[in-house]
Amino acid sequence: MAIKVGILGATGFTGQELMVLLLRHPQVEIAWLSSESQPGTDYGKIYPQFQGRLPASVGILRSFADVKATQPDVVFSCLPHGASAECAAPFAANGKTLVIDLSADFRLQDLAAYEKAYAHPHPLPEVLKQARYGLTEIHADAIKGARLIANPGCYPTSALLPLMPLIQAGVISPDGIIIDSKSGVSGAGKKPTETTHYVYANESVAAYGVGDKHRHRVEIMEQLSLSAGRKVEVLFTPHLIPMERGILSTIYCDLAPGKDGAAAEACLKAAYAGAGFVRIREDFPRTADVKHSNFCHIKVYQPAGGNKLIIVSVLDNMVKGASGQALQNMNLALGLPAGLGLA
Ligand SMILES: NC(=O)c1ccc[n+]([C@@H]2O[C@H](COP(=O)([O-])OP(=O)(O)OC[C@H]3O[C@@H](n4cnc5c(N)ncnc54)[C@H](OP(=O)(O)O)[C@@H]3O)[C@@H](O)[C@H]2O)c1
Repeated sequence: MAIKVGILGATGFTGQELMVLLLRHPQVEIAWLSSESQPGTDYGKIYPQFQGRLPASVGILRSFADVKATQPDVVFSCLPHGASAECAAPFAANGKTLVIDLSADFRLQDLAAYEKAYAHPHPLPEVLKQARYGLTEIHADAIKGARLIANPGCYPTSALLPLMPLIQAGVISPDGIIIDSKSGVSGAGKKPTETTHYVYANESVAAYGVGDKHRHRVEIMEQLSLSAGRKVEVLFTPHLIPMERGILSTIYCDLAPGKDGAAAEACLKAAYAGAGFVRIREDFPRTADVKHSNFCHIKVYQPAGGNKLIIVSVLDNMVKGASGQALQNMNLALGLPAGLGLA
């Protein structure tokens, strides 16, 4: 039996990336693709790479009103926060559909933290508790059989994959962590803004959301606090770099007393032994190593003469940071091999 899948916001960057992956998945059948701004348009006209690859009736974009009463097996919501929870609501309530939300709407358990960070009331607070945070390799058990999955943010995925096992195992101190991240421009979505416009972004590097300002910091801190069993605060500064896709995070932290870089490497190798998509590298990874793939590559390094640990983590923001991890979560939730259609 094919798994019938609908995509809310198929016209955006993550929707497009998801389509690339879903068309390779051996068990998925696309049920519908939605768009609010272009219903009735042929998806292949927007993205010619999909021409002739979908049945004609499926390739015509449908409005939310047109699809909201349908009950596909899986709905991926690739919409902006706020709109995403509202549009996911009927599917989350129908008792049949697995909902995987790529936005931030279900990522934070702390409602007040969500409303402060995103500056609007949560559209669906009563459903928040049902959501499982889909950092696949870390939360695999909780994702199996889940009905509503909050797909993690791209920056948080790059930081949490190395940090959570190290904190849980007591290899690093949860205090004083500094995360310095660089992202390609696709992280900002399809619609260019003044600061993501080619002329502004090209041949330039800029920090934004510095230190305590970016919303992903709240997500990172909530997950690290759950790992540590106490409140964890971090400093997080993202940078926009003139690159299409990819994230590189350089993380500075303190080793716990008696621990060293070798212990950190051993901890991560043990945590990810057998995990298909996380690699602990001997050398420093580059974003190009993981471009268009669902892999996260990590290197840990202890500089001489101190107790600092430096972690470098890379992933593709559109794949492991969004649509690839979402598909990995679908596979796990439905009892399929996590890497189906991804490796
Ligand atoms: N880009 C990344 O690297 C990345 C990584 C992780 C998570 N995310 C998250 O994934 C979600 C989608 O990101 P994206 O990069 O794909 O964004 P995007 O390229 O801007 O696409 C979002 C799509 O949502 C639709 N849309 C926009 N505003 C809407 C509204 N108010 N109501 C209903 N539909 C609306 C638009 O489709 P129509 O105009 O056709 O209606 C648009 O094509 C966001 O929540 C984002 O934060 C993105």
